[in-house]
Amino acid sequence: MTDPFGRIAPIIRLAPAKLNLTLAVTSRRADGYHELHSVIVEVDLADRLSLALSAGTHDTLHVTGFDAGPTPDNLVLRAIAETRLAVGRGWAGAGTQAGSGIAGGLAPALAARLEKRIPVAAGLGGGSSDAAAAIDGALEAWGAQLGPEERLRLAARLGSDVPFFLPDGGTGVALVEGRGERVTRLPPVNGAPPGVLLVTPDLRLTTKDVFDAYAAGLHRGPGGSTRLASEHLAGELRGGLASRDFLLRAGVLASANDLIGPATAILPQLVPFRRALARLLGRPIGLSGSGPTCWVLYPSRADAAAAAETIRTAGADGGLGSEFGGHPFTAAVAIRSAPVKLTMEEPSA
Ligand code: C5P
Repeated sequence: MTDPFGRIAPIIRLAPAKLNLTLAVTSRRADGYHELHSVIVEVDLADRLSLALSAGTHDTLHVTGFDAGPTPDNLVLRAIAETRLAVGRGWAGAGTQAGSGIAGGLAPALAARLEKRIPVAAGLGGGSSDAAAAIDGALEAWGAQLGPEERLRLAARLGSDVPFFLPDGGTGVALVEGRGERVTRLPPVNGAPPGVLLVTPDLRLTTKDVFDAYAAGLHRGPGGSTRLASEHLAGELRGGLASRDFLLRAGVLASANDLIGPATAILPQLVPFRRALARLLGRPIGLSGSGPTCWVLYPSRADAAAAAETIRTAGADGGLGSEFGGHPFTAAVAIRSAPVKLTMEEPSA
């Protein structure tokens, strides 16, 4: 298939989910945002974004899969629009007659399709990952380029988690500081990529509400210990951390998130939910970002898949209780441990 400009279409990007292995809130800034120290990894659960040049006058977006809210508010459309402004007239087709109806000689309209496979407002960074994929994909669709600094500024304007997801050939493991804009890539764990069971109760939490609860002092833990655990993990990864040693840290990591208290203050059901998971699985239960997705570490994706089955069976038998809004979403994934391919293959499980 070719687009109106005779190019092969569309551009495909897989936009992976992330999970926070640690999340220390170190201070509140004058602008209301919080300074973080967080070790973040990408996993191989991904949304799929396709972008094709269109002869229309506006960008369009068609979303399937999880309900991502009103389409006009989707970060993918904002990312495309802001990338177009950042590129200005410096796109490959500039000066030709082939432009679309976008005013001012700017890069042509795009028709985007997004398959949402990552639960929304779940602490997995799906919307931010889509935005980073849209920046990168739009640049390729237009044959345009932005320098690394400009890409980073653009990403940070779209959301605190977006810079982490900018594809840069990194390993998908990073220490994220500042509001989210200081991203230091770290080596992955050595050896077989650990598996992770993700369990998302059918309850939504917005990042803003959780940070607001943190700022109000709701259920804050003792300061400092999360930061220490986070620094320790970043140091160990830098020095080379074997997969089996990483798994031994699961208990420490599961409580190394300063947003657990504020998230449970807003959604008290998270407490019995995490307790039920711990009882069924006999392992430490972490919280990703501001939640409500819980993570559980395993030696492999196959082990995580067996645990997912345990949760599904318990859910069907009523063993998880009824207050969690129905059946939780479960996914058995692996932590990425190699440079992310721009159009990486989809997970087999
Ligand atoms: O940057 P983003 O739009 O994703 O952030 C959503 C909200 O989460 C912000 O409005 C802010 O209230 C809060 N936040 C914060 N500190 C961060 C990231 C987010 O307070 N580092």
